[in-house]
Amino acid sequence: MAATSIVLTELHKKSTSWDKVVDEIVSLEKKIFPEHQSLARSIDDELKKKNSGLIYLEIDGDLAGYVMYSCPSSLCAIIIELAVKENYRRQGHGDTLLKAAIEKCRSKRIHRVSLHVDPLRTPAMNLYKKLGFQIDTLVKAYYSSDRDAYRMYFDFDQV
Ligand SMILES: CC(C)(COP(=O)(O)OP(=O)(O)OC[C@H]1O[C@@H](n2cnc3c(N)ncnc32)[C@H](O)[C@@H]1OP(=O)(O)O)[C@@H](O)C(=O)NCCC(=O)NCCS
Repeated sequence: MAATSIVLTELHKKSTSWDKVVDEIVSLEKKIFPEHQSLARSIDDELKKKNSGLIYLEIDGDLAGYVMYSCPSSLCAIIIELAVKENYRRQGHGDTLLKAAIEKCRSKRIHRVSLHVDPLRTPAMNLYKKLGFQIDTLVKAYYSSDRDAYRMYFDFDQV
């Protein structure tokens, strides 16, 4: 049997694969996230912003997961989105993607990486805690009137 190919790629603004990758991510966003959490409508605009970045993972050519981040200042970065396609979960790919985004931020000499997560998303909460994120605060009605979020952070000088 042929070996599985796993490729991690940073999407560059001038990439010839831009439209294909963004289309696939839009379709995954619609499947994975409820409308109030989905970036399906805004992802193309988000990614075109100067400080945004996207790293995606392909398994045998299939887009299996992605992490999107933004560096609004020279000191801090935000993980905007992280997802792995259902059939590829629990194989370490979420871990790989998040670590890749953290390393990207480290290389930019960012001090703090933060993110918001629905407290009910146990796999994501566990992954963030496993990689050293700490809970900062509970933000009431972050996603919608009845959906709160934890704001979590990771400081480079703490590890
Ligand atoms: C969160 C998500 C990206 C994790 O991806 P994944 O590839 O399955 O994660 P990994 O296999 O790399 O697991 C890494 C760690 O995450 C945690 N984790 C992952 N799946 C879990 C599950 N089903 N239950 C509990 N913990 C889980 C564990 O701590 C795991 O470490 P371990 O294997 O040493 O126990 C994936 O579940 C997903 O896409 N969920 C839907 C979208 C989402 O919630 N995104 C986060 C938005 S803020």
